[in-house]
Amino acid sequence: MTAPTPAVRDRVLSLRSTELPAYVYDMTALREHATRVRSALPDRVELYYAAKANPEPELLTALGPYVDGYEVSSGGELVHVAESVPGRPLAFGGPGKTPEEITTALERGVERFHVESEHDLRMLADLSRRIAPGRRVAVLLRFNLAVADCSLAGSALAMGGRPTPFGIDPTRAVDVLRTLTDGSCAHLELRGVHAHLASGLDAPEQLSVARSIVDWSTGLGVPLAEVNIGGGMAVDYTDPDRRFDWPSYGDGLARLLDEHPGLTLRIEPGRALTAYCGWYATEVLDVKHSHGEEFAVVRGGTHHLRTPATKGHDQPCSVLPVREWPHPWPRPTAAGDRVTLTGQLCTPKDLLARNVHAPGLRAGDRVAFSLAGAYAWNISHHDFLMHPHPGFHFVD
Ligand SMILES: Cc1ncc(COP(=O)(O)O)c(C=O)c1O
Repeated sequence: MTAPTPAVRDRVLSLRSTELPAYVYDMTALREHATRVRSALPDRVELYYAAKANPEPELLTALGPYVDGYEVSSGGELVHVAESVPGRPLAFGGPGKTPEEITTALERGVERFHVESEHDLRMLADLSRRIAPGRRVAVLLRFNLAVADCSLAGSALAMGGRPTPFGIDPTRAVDVLRTLTDGSCAHLELRGVHAHLASGLDAPEQLSVARSIVDWSTGLGVPLAEVNIGGGMAVDYTDPDRRFDWPSYGDGLARLLDEHPGLTLRIEPGRALTAYCGWYATEVLDVKHSHGEEFAVVRGGTHHLRTPATKGHDQPCSVLPVREWPHPWPRPTAAGDRVTLTGQLCTPKDLLARNVHAPGLRAGDRVAFSLAGAYAWNISHHDFLMHPHPGFHFVD
């Protein structure tokens, strides 16, 4: 869905120029999408939202009825999510956890710790003994598994299946399991395995990865109640209408679970849950010709919407024409069909979308960049050049 929904379009056109840029979220679209995702998943699949994709409290709250919990990857996210959606289960992961973060997580009664190394395990064991002596702290061991076939070949970002700082190397599995069961970690309870291996995988690849993770985990020879197969469901920025196939993914997970009657699977998508509900809306400030190409400079830029810069894509967008032009001088207008949309930053890297089909684009027209609901504002370098921050609107 490249075009803004009617509610988003109305809001974007109702804002004054000075109220742009703005992030506009369609909360109804988010709820409808989450309903479809949830209903595609079989019973024994728990859905956790990876808050790193977009931790806006309004989004965390709106997702509440559809998710079993939230995955957080830092002490900051942990506190923020715990306060935004009080009482909901949290799973705390991430490489390089500090003692302070683990302490906060223990004090806040985090449901699952995703342990990423032997050091991480020993630190958690030590702190649990001191901070939560009456409690058995539930642990999933995160492994960096090699998957059997080329399932990760098409991924946008691989965190596993190759040398990375994430998770425990599978060759260390026996030693780590021994540490967990030799009495030195008495306050910890091994619940299962976690493996988030890549982002940007379609349903068939996700299912193949899920099977590899479950086969490997259940072959460890220790009883496991749950396996977290991660997030990473694809969002296609080049073809926004092509959505991740949740129904066939759900069917595949159901078949996998049939083979493992005692097992609970957990997934923790971020991008594929919230990307579609957000738009970054702005206006064209100027249109200029340069060495045979045309550029439209918009209010804002990649310091607000870093997604295209970080992923190297063109952010899908729609032009919302505006009739009024407040100045007595001629309105800058594109002469050709193709215009490159850039931001206000003094760097050629401030590219939002290249060669957009936008015949006759004029200064004063509005542009809504879609798929801006995940890894957008929260991953951007907001204060570079000290432009004002965008507004935030949550429309129903
Ligand atoms: C451990 C973990 N889980 C879940 C996610 C969410 O991935 P995505 O937003 O691609 O679904 C990430 C993203 O980096 C992650 O590192």
